[in-house]
Amino acid sequence: MTLDVAAVRAQFPILSRTVHGRPLIYLDSANSAQKPQAVIDAEAEFYARHYSNVARAVHTLGSEATDAFEGARDKVAAFLDAPRREEIVFTKNISEALNLIAYSFSNATSTPGAERFRLGPGDEIVVTEMEHHSNLVPWQLLAQRTGARFQWIPIDDEGRLVDSAIDEVITARTRVVAFAYQSNVLGTINPVPRLVERAKAVGALTVVDAAQAAPHLPISVRALGVDFLAFTGHKVYGPTGVGALWGRYELLAAMPPFLAGGEMIETVEMTGTTFAAPPHRFEAGTPMIAQAVALGTAIDWLTGLGLDEVRAHEHALTEHALDGLAALPGVRVIGPTSSVGRGATISFTVAGVHPHDVAQFLDERGIAVRAGHHCARPVCVRYGIPATTRASFAAHTTTDEIDALLVAIEQAKEMFA
Ligand code: ALA
Repeated sequence: MTLDVAAVRAQFPILSRTVHGRPLIYLDSANSAQKPQAVIDAEAEFYARHYSNVARAVHTLGSEATDAFEGARDKVAAFLDAPRREEIVFTKNISEALNLIAYSFSNATSTPGAERFRLGPGDEIVVTEMEHHSNLVPWQLLAQRTGARFQWIPIDDEGRLVDSAIDEVITARTRVVAFAYQSNVLGTINPVPRLVERAKAVGALTVVDAAQAAPHLPISVRALGVDFLAFTGHKVYGPTGVGALWGRYELLAAMPPFLAGGEMIETVEMTGTTFAAPPHRFEAGTPMIAQAVALGTAIDWLTGLGLDEVRAHEHALTEHALDGLAALPGVRVIGPTSSVGRGATISFTVAGVHPHDVAQFLDERGIAVRAGHHCARPVCVRYGIPATTRASFAAHTTTDEIDALLVAIEQAKEMFA
C-alpha cells in the first residue's frame, strides 16, 4: 500500500503554521521529528486522568500509571522484535543509553560475574568514523578509564565504511564494536549483518545506535543478531526525554548498574546493597512516565502507518532530492549520491556559501534544515569541510517540499554569488 501523505500531514498541527509568512516546510526530522496529534493528546490525557508515580503507589492511580508505563515497555519490545519485555530499559535518550553500557563496562572491574565486561590494556574498542558524538565520546572515555585502545573503521569518499577495513580493524583483541545503523550526517545505512558477523567471529559485543534508523525502517533485534541497540523517542514522532536501550537479557543480567538510586535495588543495608533484576536495575529514580506512555502511542502511530510504506515513500523522496541536487552546479552531496543503501537524510554543501548561510536563507523561505557538524565532527574533518547543510525527510514530507528546497538552494547560490 502507498502512504496517504495528505492524511499523514493532516495529523501534524505544526505543519499548518507559517514561518516568515511562508508555509512551514520541515526538513529537520533527523534532528527531531514533529509530533502527530495522537502523541500530543496521549501525554496530555495521561497527565489529566491517570498521572501518578509508578511502581511505588498502592492506590488506583498508581496502578493505572504503572500499567500504562509497563504497557509502553511492551510496545517498545514489540517495535524492536525483542524476545523479552525485560530487555527494554527506558533511558532519557541514546546518549544516556550508550553511557549506561560504557559505564557498566568500567563498573564491571569489581563485580563478580561481570568478567565479560572487564576491559584493560590489550583490549580494543571499535567504532566507525561516521559516529554521532554520543556513540564515540563515551567509548573514548571508557578507553581512557580502562587502558583499552580506541579504534575506528574509516569511511570512503562516498560516505560508506571501507569494507576491507572491517576485517582489519575488528580483531581478536576487539571486545566491543559500536556503530550507527544509519549515519545522521551522510544518510548511509551501514552493513549491520557484515559488522555483526565479523564481531561475532572474534567474540566482540555489538552496540547499535539506531537513532536514525528507527523512524524509517522496521527493526528486528532478533534478526539483526546484535547485543545492544538503542533508539530515542523524539525522532520516532514521540516526546523528548525518553528513549530505550534493548540488550540481550543474559548480558543485562550480568551487567553492574550505571546510575544508583530509588527502585534499582533489591535490598539495601548500611553495609551494602544488592540490585534489582533488569530492566529496573538500570532505571534509577522516578522515570519519564508520561513521556514513555506517549512514546508507546508514537510507536502505535508509526507502526500503524506501516514502516515498509514509510520506507518506500522516503526512498522515493530521497531519489527525487538526489536527482535534483545533482542537477545543481556547485552543490556537493556529502554522502552516498545514489539512493541505494542510504536513508532520507541528505547533507550537502553549496560552493562559495557557508552552510549556516544556506540554512538561514532557507529559513527565511519557511524551510527548516539543520546546518553544522551535526554532532559528528570527524565526518566533516574527513571531507575537509567545516559543516554541511542537511535536509532530512519524514513520513509527512512531499515532493513539492523538496522542489521548493531545490529552488531555494538555487536562489541562495545566486544571492551569495
Ligand atoms: N539531533 C542530532 C542530529 O541532528 C542527532 O543529527
